Amino acid sequence: MEITALTDFSSAAIEQAFAEVLADAQASIAAPSFDAEAFRLEWLGRKQGRLKALSDAWLKTAPVEAKKLIGQRFNALKEQIETALENAGSLNAKASAATLDISLPGSAQSLGAEHPLIKTMAEIVDVFKRMGYSLRLGPEVENDFNNFESLNFPPNHPARDTQDTLVLADQEKRPLRERLLMRTHTSPVQIRSMLSEEPPLQLVIPGKVHRNEAADATHSPIFHQVEGLCVGPKVTFSDLKGTLDHAMKALFGSSVKTRFFPSFFPFTEPSADVQISCIFCGGKGCRKCKHSGWIELLGCGMVDPNVFEAVNQRRIELGREPAYDPAKISGFAFGMGVDRITMMKYGISDIGLLYSGDTRFLAQFA
Ligand code: DAH
Repeated sequence: MEITALTDFSSAAIEQAFAEVLADAQASIAAPSFDAEAFRLEWLGRKQGRLKALSDAWLKTAPVEAKKLIGQRFNALKEQIETALENAGSLNAKASAATLDISLPGSAQSLGAEHPLIKTMAEIVDVFKRMGYSLRLGPEVENDFNNFESLNFPPNHPARDTQDTLVLADQEKRPLRERLLMRTHTSPVQIRSMLSEEPPLQLVIPGKVHRNEAADATHSPIFHQVEGLCVGPKVTFSDLKGTLDHAMKALFGSSVKTRFFPSFFPFTEPSADVQISCIFCGGKGCRKCKHSGWIELLGCGMVDPNVFEAVNQRRIELGREPAYDPAKISGFAFGMGVDRITMMKYGISDIGLLYSGDTRFLAQFA
């Protein structure tokens, strides 16, 4: 509101002018947009408040005869506005107390649920924990030595091409084995564990891994694995077979059968792929198992002596006992894809759904 200078200094005109200002303040207080703090600033602010402006415009310029009346009216106006403001505050408090209706239903807070991937990963880990395995974790940013070299993927070896790697920028000046990359599998945690712990070891290692893969219904640049490592005197291939057969039965049901096929991994010798009898058709053959009756689920093998040698070498460099003499110690390892197992378990046809963060999809598993 513009403050117009007073020109008529008769008492009637003065009363009229103050009444208008008071009506204006009362209208603001009654408005639905009323905000006590904003009002206080606008009207009672010491430097820029309207009352201050009013006193500057009307009181200071008034002729001497009118000063007394204007002064009195000014003080009265200030009090009236302050009282109106106070009343508005307590009225508001009463109004909000009145709107609390305790008979209304509460607003429900929906509970979070475990992501199906994490649930499956925990189930797999649990199966191995019950067999006496301990949990180990490792970082997703790994060095070339742990992810490749020590696992018997020498520099420039074509086996590296099977795991298209995402590397960190600006690593070229470092020696190859120290260069950082996103781990392509959970196997480097085998190495980390053997570097810091002595045999015997029985470890289960879940985690997230990364590869430079184009996303489609069955591929994702991020996925999950569970790795296993068992090292000690006289660990044999039949221990490996018995362990994995038991684990698959614990995970998929006691009627599931397993079979082992020769395969290749640089860090195991011999290596095998493990298949389980199709959990959908019981082995008769269906679309899910491509009519073979079998589903391939994991890779495994006996730890290659070269891996033990690499670990010993590095342990010596770190000032530790070698501890993994391939003549005295043997071991097996295995690795499985958690995403595929999750998709199979829940009938999910697109891996991307697991990473979409879409609560309509995730709520189905709550
Ligand atoms: N690291 C392998 C991969 O990502 C999976 C694997 C195979 C792990 C055999 C193992 C193993 O420990 O023995 O393809």
